[in-house]
Amino acid sequence: MASRSYARSIALYEESKRHLAGGVSSNVRYASAPVPLFFERAGGARMTDVDGNTYIDYVLGNGPAILGHAPPSVTRAVADTLALGQTYAAQHERELQLARRLTGLLPSLEVVRFATSGTEAVQAAMRLARAFTGRPKIVKFEGHYHGWTDSVYVSVRPSLNEAGPSQAPVPVAESNGQSASVLADLIVLGWNDLDALADTFARSGQQIAGVLMEPVLVNAGVIPPQAGYLQGVSRLCREHGALFLCDEVITGFRLGLGGAQALFDVRPDITIFAKAVAAGFPLAVIGGRRDVMDCLLTGNVMHGGTYNGNVQSMAAALAALDELARDDGAVYRSMHRQGTRLMEGLRAAARQHNVPMIVQGYPQILQTFFMKGSPPRTYRDVAAGNDRDRALAFCKALQEEGVRVNQRCAWFLSAAHDDAAIDETLAAVDRALARL
Ligand SMILES: Cc1ncc(COP(=O)(O)O)c(C=O)c1O
Repeated sequence: MASRSYARSIALYEESKRHLAGGVSSNVRYASAPVPLFFERAGGARMTDVDGNTYIDYVLGNGPAILGHAPPSVTRAVADTLALGQTYAAQHERELQLARRLTGLLPSLEVVRFATSGTEAVQAAMRLARAFTGRPKIVKFEGHYHGWTDSVYVSVRPSLNEAGPSQAPVPVAESNGQSASVLADLIVLGWNDLDALADTFARSGQQIAGVLMEPVLVNAGVIPPQAGYLQGVSRLCREHGALFLCDEVITGFRLGLGGAQALFDVRPDITIFAKAVAAGFPLAVIGGRRDVMDCLLTGNVMHGGTYNGNVQSMAAALAALDELARDDGAVYRSMHRQGTRLMEGLRAAARQHNVPMIVQGYPQILQTFFMKGSPPRTYRDVAAGNDRDRALAFCKALQEEGVRVNQRCAWFLSAAHDDAAIDETLAAVDRALARL
């Protein structure tokens, strides 16, 4: 099959580099080939680029578009509010409605605060944990991404040369220009290893304010928690007076209305949500125990933000939650059915083409690893075993065949991925594997 043309994207990217730093608005977007592509429109499960190429999209804005792109009930609800203004620097009733809705949905959310991005919401959660406990250190895990701030953009994708021994990882700053002093306030551990966390608490428990994690590790490739692991983490935190900080920026409202915490039956002290909660509009939520969250009022803990609680994000989230809850979870049943078909189809195609591929995760967010042996349980398993070049080649081949996945080969599903989209995708997978 002839290659697609990206001529207009290439021309626009060259022009962008003259005016926009690096030609992009987020470093994550550099990775796209042959250049960061320019898109003209997105609707449902499909996108069209400026060269007229169409794609079935499994990037979904890196997770938010859980109802597909431009979901009519959400865009209508937002449009209905546009003439009311955007941001008041004051309270309004939609904030209250959304807060009431969220605290009614998740037992761990006694109270919530709104923010705009996951990055800043994580920052607020870490600050709250330190203020509430009076302790300095946060435990974070290798491979887990919690935004790009100095304070936590650490050991997200460390090279195995730099990362130190697996039983005593060395915190690795991920960006030039990051303050080196933040490393002293973090303890980095391997994930899915309860003994390592128990040992750390035994040694340094009095220093630990909170344990921060993605409850399902998505940012290193989708890896579920081992049976009992999250409960064990929660128990250790309780025993040692530290807070369990659960980053559900990806898993929240994606694995189900109750997120990972409902699926695995745990009750974090503080949870951070973003992405799917407002179906594509900018919104993050920090929520949890009232005594902890009350530090914002009584404990002199600062949390601000000009756009927090803006009218359109509130309207979007209220409409998105209506849609996600409709017909007793029809959206989740549909994602489950289509995602399961996709996972099974990917496995069958890999077998047929004799490609060593592990398909792991959940129907709503799944991963294709190019590796042999057992399914990975930690970041290091992926770093050591996954053939990144092959994954990238698969991603490029899929793009040529009209299927868009991210460079790490994580696949996000949406309510808009229907039978036709999955059938077309599996046909494209077959052709893409033949190309490899
Ligand atoms: C688990 C997790 N936490 C936090 C963030 C940061 O969120 P944002 O990009 O909205 O700042 C991300 C972003 O991908 C994420 O995946």
